[in-house]
Amino acid sequence: MIDVRKLAEPGSIEETLLERIDLKRLPRHVAVIMDGNGRWARARNLPRVEGHRSGIASVREIVETAARLELGVITLYAFSVENWKRPRYEVATLMMLLKEYLRKELQTLMENNIRFTPIGRVDGLDPSVQRELRYAEEKTAENSGLLFQIALNYGGRAEIVDTCNRIMSILREKEMSDAVIDEDFFAGHLYTANVDDPDLLIRTSGELRVSNFLLWQIAYAEIHVTKVLWPDFRRRNLFEAIIDFQSRERRYGGVEGAEAEMFIEADDAASS
Ligand code: FPP
Repeated sequence: MIDVRKLAEPGSIEETLLERIDLKRLPRHVAVIMDGNGRWARARNLPRVEGHRSGIASVREIVETAARLELGVITLYAFSVENWKRPRYEVATLMMLLKEYLRKELQTLMENNIRFTPIGRVDGLDPSVQRELRYAEEKTAENSGLLFQIALNYGGRAEIVDTCNRIMSILREKEMSDAVIDEDFFAGHLYTANVDDPDLLIRTSGELRVSNFLLWQIAYAEIHVTKVLWPDFRRRNLFEAIIDFQSRERRYGGVEGAEAEMFIEADDAASS
């Protein structure tokens, strides 16, 4: 049971927003492109890394809120395969912040019954980062609440290529190289195998791009773009994104609502 008292103070903006959310129609999987850390820092005459440091507070609040809302999955895009092009100091700081986050936050992840897992080319990360990731993954493996996926050294195209290579090697091993695969089989070998696709993709800082994030999985996701920069993104902004999500009609390529009823009536008339 969702405990709304843990999500909003009485009389707060959060409470007003929460009242507009249908708790029975929440997205099961929310994916987030956390963007705007650099601009947040620049606006305050601070080094870029201070934006990343402040972004951690948003990560904390959003993950905890997702757990309290009893969402199934949250996936955060923390470091892309392209992000290695950034200055060495910025990359090193991001990795240091990640390790610090994992060490400090493990207890909270446990208390909130959150299962943590990284996705991406994790073996391309520094061994010290891999060790912390493995530790957090193992410690939280038996938790049964929210699944928190963090995309690291991640690229949507890289994932698709890695999946193709994985499938080819399985088929070669089984001497089935002329087998024909289908979408379900392919999806079952992605980094996100066994995880439902995102229903809602949030991007902060106003950019209208998907930036090589979960390219296969977002095929039918609703996209919510907000101008809010990631270090300013808080629980109320997640609530706004969910309200926006619930205002959409999801058709998956079909027709629904009044229009669908018209077709059903027309079909009935034709067959009677
Ligand atoms: C994009 O902002 C953000 C990133 C590349 C990194 C996101 C990382 C964090 C929020 C902190 C680390 C995460 C965890 C989970 C510990 P940008 O730098 O591209 O911003 P800009 O477009 O304004 O320059």
